[in-house]
Amino acid sequence: MRPIIKNLIFFTVLTIVSTSVSAQKFSDLAKTPPMGWNSWNKFGCDVSESLIREVADAMVSSGMRDAGYIYLNIDDCWHGERDSLGFIHENAERFPSGMKALADYVHSKGLKLGIYSDAGTKTCGGHPGSRGHEYQDAITYAGWGIDYLKYDWCNTGELKAKEAYITMRDAIYAAGRPMVFSICEWGTDKPWTWGGEVGHLWRTTGDIVDCWDCELGHGNWNSNGIMKILDMQKDIRQYAGPGHWNDPDMMEVGNALTVSESRAHFTMWCMIAAPLIAGNDIRTMSKETTEILTNKEVIAINQDILGVQGFKLYDYGDVEIWVKPLANDEWAFCFLNRAGTPQTAELNWNENAIYDAVSGKNVEFHKTTYNLRDLWAKKSLGTTQTNFKAAIPAHDVILLRLSK
Ligand code: GLA
Repeated sequence: MRPIIKNLIFFTVLTIVSTSVSAQKFSDLAKTPPMGWNSWNKFGCDVSESLIREVADAMVSSGMRDAGYIYLNIDDCWHGERDSLGFIHENAERFPSGMKALADYVHSKGLKLGIYSDAGTKTCGGHPGSRGHEYQDAITYAGWGIDYLKYDWCNTGELKAKEAYITMRDAIYAAGRPMVFSICEWGTDKPWTWGGEVGHLWRTTGDIVDCWDCELGHGNWNSNGIMKILDMQKDIRQYAGPGHWNDPDMMEVGNALTVSESRAHFTMWCMIAAPLIAGNDIRTMSKETTEILTNKEVIAINQDILGVQGFKLYDYGDVEIWVKPLANDEWAFCFLNRAGTPQTAELNWNENAIYDAVSGKNVEFHKTTYNLRDLWAKKSLGTTQTNFKAAIPAHDVILLRLSK
């Protein structure tokens, strides 16, 4: 074979190999559920450079950063227009110093910056989407120093979800800057069945709203309260794990919920290994909200390295018992009171056993004794030798960590 043809074949093979190697997500990110803050739930389209700088400062002073909330994510409406070459720019009035300077500021605080786009022609808020500009946008974000991309699904017409998200995944990888890729397809095309290779988290439902158990109509779509969203997570826990998480949407802790409801909401998001993306005003949050969001022992349930999504063991009346297998054969047990009146949490440990096919973790309490710790009261509660009985306030939880 003539050397020139040999070389041609060699380079063709190399190109094919390197193209297929590049077709992947950044795999070392989000080994535990991502933690951070996002502007949408509280501020909607009212985003600006000053807001993000102030929230960055508050993430540090409130202890949020040190509790693990690293990503500061700007949602919809940061956009200006595309220029004549098709590159997207930030809204210069809202972000006068530019996105790069903002990223530098956020990074200087020990935080990471996230941004939002959409697979369609326009975002849900009517700003330029990334369709047809995926590689250009990924390069722009990488140049700005972006660390996280939430990618929405409005105005996508006939696009196929998996393919559209793969295009952006590949664009991010080609741009070369590691970014958590957050798939926001609302669960329509079962992203849990294909999202693991494409992104690091995927929305499982439509939008959350800050009420306990309501459903709110918005014309052609509905948003759902905390309990409704929780109920929609059934039967998909086997798809979650290190690097790829079911996302029941960003939190409403500290918004229009009672303290009990915020505590229960936060606890359940921890039990189901959900990404912990706060959605309240960190600058002005109450002491109670701060204590909920920064309870390190509760966060540790969410961030447990086994990475198993918890599940409902059984319920009686309005009380549900949820469990989450943890590393080192430990367990989290949560009693959730869905009712608007106090209820009693009761459990005879010795009569209970758990065989979890998803994690392969089993426990028979008549054979193994565990110590109990109440993670909200922050105190030890004896062992599984004694039957458990305690009052749960309305719309609240008791959360126990079981260790040997
Ligand atoms: C959709 C998403 C929300 C938010 C808005 C922004 O509704 O599901 O989380 O990003 O768009 O317009």
